[in-house]
Amino acid sequence: MQELRVGILGFGVVGRGVVDLLLTQGELLRQRTGMAIRLRRIATRTPGRDRGLSLGDIELTDDLQRVVAADDIDVVVELMGGLQPARSAIEEALQSGKDVVTANKALLATYGHELVPLALAQHRELLFEAAVAGAIPIIKVLRESLAANRIDQLYGILNGTCNYILTEMREQGSSFADVLRDAQAKGFAEADPSFDIDGIDAAHKLAILAAISFGTFPALSQIHIEGIRHVADIDIQWATEMGYRIKLLGIAKQDAGGVELRIQPTLVPVGSMVASVEGVHNAVFVRGHAAGTTMYYGRGAGEAPTASAVVGDLVEIARSRRAGCSGRVAPFSVMPEYIKRFPVRETDEWRGEYYLRLAVADRPGVLAEVTQVLAKQQISIDAIHQKGRSAVLAVPLIMVTHATTERQIRLALAEMEQLDAVQETPRFIRIEPNVA
Ligand code: HSE
Repeated sequence: MQELRVGILGFGVVGRGVVDLLLTQGELLRQRTGMAIRLRRIATRTPGRDRGLSLGDIELTDDLQRVVAADDIDVVVELMGGLQPARSAIEEALQSGKDVVTANKALLATYGHELVPLALAQHRELLFEAAVAGAIPIIKVLRESLAANRIDQLYGILNGTCNYILTEMREQGSSFADVLRDAQAKGFAEADPSFDIDGIDAAHKLAILAAISFGTFPALSQIHIEGIRHVADIDIQWATEMGYRIKLLGIAKQDAGGVELRIQPTLVPVGSMVASVEGVHNAVFVRGHAAGTTMYYGRGAGEAPTASAVVGDLVEIARSRRAGCSGRVAPFSVMPEYIKRFPVRETDEWRGEYYLRLAVADRPGVLAEVTQVLAKQQISIDAIHQKGRSAVLAVPLIMVTHATTERQIRLALAEMEQLDAVQETPRFIRIEPNVA
């Protein structure tokens, strides 16, 4: 029986999951591929650490070259993360005729436009199902199952840590800081959580999804990235009272005027499917012109779910090799010569409904002053709420607008901030009323 000889770079949580799957599911993988997927070598900075696995004759080394440059390895699985040395290792592996599987979203979002042509020129595979939304097979779906569709919109919950924090804030009625501390204690959030909670991780994933969907390579600087630090418990309570949930959404839209790419806290209707995605789960919704909207849901992180995606890519490579082909599907779907740069629409030109929160003095005439500012910017109000009384403290004033442009909202909020009665910087959160 033919063999697919595998080398792994990185032996952290995902690496451990991949090794475990390969060791325990060998027979199943043989039946499904007609090949033996044989793990030969793992390069890790800590080869001596006990991972609780019986590795048999699998070699452990702290030398990346023993995997990348080895002539007894067919596929390199890169699970180190970070830009370097991962980028050089992948380039070297492709140049020496190896296929590559990676879970490295930061690398693909930053250097995908260079790695993809290299893989195609070498007639090798570059597969990365695990880089976006863990176990959810969204890359394969976009590249293959929906290949007949013009994708005009894609959105989803791409970061489990943020979704967990927002879910807990609502269910426990707790503040962002308290839930984050608790999530870190339970191991659901990293000690340095900024990549997750500031939206960077989700932006990397959105860049990859947009590249495949739209045939473009957006620069990360073209993505509007807002995390969840400024979502207050009072916003979550008001959203709930008004029939919404707050979710950190990645949104990619395309029309004749250009592309919009954003990571943002968003109010979505409580009855929508997006709203029902809770806790650490991820979900991606894709709108294709022929297929309509389809939804993909599951675990976006964790040892076994992410390993499932990595080993699924190894199965694809084994099948291709057995069939004597390679590079059947371009890594980002579109052949590189058709990759275009699309104009990215400025935030000022975005249109939508907005949730506004002000802290105002509780005295006659304040509401009139505030609504006058909105009227001046031609912003129409859908709902207005004010609860509580205080002769001394500011009280919250919550408003929901009809569709308007972000330019008008920003101008109105800047003007409101100058009013004597407005006692804190006004906040806004965008609303997506039409999500599935
Ligand atoms: N840290 C990510 C999350 C998973 O919380 O969803 C890996 O991208």
